[in-house]
Amino acid sequence: MESAAPATVIVAIDGPSGTGKSSTSKAVAAELGLRYLDTGAQYRAITWWMVTNGIDIDDPAAIAAAADKPEIVSGTDPAAPTITVDGQDAAGPIRTQEVTSKVSAVSAVPEVRTRITELQRAIAAAGGIVVEGRDIGTTVLPDADLKVFLTASPEVRAARRSGELKNSDVAATQAALVQRDAADSSRKTSPLKKAGDAVEVDTSDLTLQQVVECVVTLVGEKRVVA
Ligand code: DC
Repeated sequence: MESAAPATVIVAIDGPSGTGKSSTSKAVAAELGLRYLDTGAQYRAITWWMVTNGIDIDDPAAIAAAADKPEIVSGTDPAAPTITVDGQDAAGPIRTQEVTSKVSAVSAVPEVRTRITELQRAIAAAGGIVVEGRDIGTTVLPDADLKVFLTASPEVRAARRSGELKNSDVAATQAALVQRDAADSSRKTSPLKKAGDAVEVDTSDLTLQQVVECVVTLVGEKRVVA
C-alpha cells in the first residue's frame, strides 16, 4: 500500500500538556511509517541529570554551565520510544513528580534550549518524522511541512493527566498543569506558542482516534499542495 506521507515529511505538533500530543504524535507516526521524537522527554532528561548531579535548580547560571554535560540519546521508533542519559535508561525517572515540578525552570535557561534544540534539529534533519513539543513550529523546525497546535480545556486536560497518574487529585493536577503552562508560555526564550501557520485543533470533545485521523488527513492535504 502506498504510504500517505512522503518519506521526508516533517510534522510539528505543539501544545500544552494534557492535549493528547504524545498519544497523537506516536499514532500518526506509526500510521504513516514515520519516526517520532518526544522533545519534552529530552527536557525532562536534562532536568533529571541536573537533579541527580546536585545542580541547584534555582541557579540559572549553574544550570547553564552544566547544560553541555549530559549525553542525551532519543530512540525514535513510535512503537517503542526510548531515552538514555549518559547511557542509562531514563524513561522511568524522567516521569517522577520531582522532575515534572522542576522541568519548566530548567527548560527556561537559554543554554539548555540551545543544547536541546541542536539535538532535535540533528535528529530531524533526515526528515520522515513527527516531532512533538512546545516550540517546534515556532523555533526548532520553522520549515516543517505541517504544523499542528493542539489545545483542550483545562478541565479536560487535568482529567486526562489524572487518568495517566492513577489515583491523583484532579483539582491539584489542574492547578499544577495551569502553573506549568503559565511558566512555559511566559519564558523569554522560545515560549509555548502557536506558530502563525499552524493548524489549531481543539481536542476537548474528540477521541484520540478522531484527532489522529484529523492530523493524518492534514498531512495528506499538505502532500497534495506541496
Ligand atoms: O511534554 P512534557 O510535559 O513532557 O514536557 C515537559 C516540559 O518540557 C514542559 O513543561 C516544558 C518543556 N518543553 C519545552 O520547553 N519545549 C519543548 N519543545 C518540549 C517541552
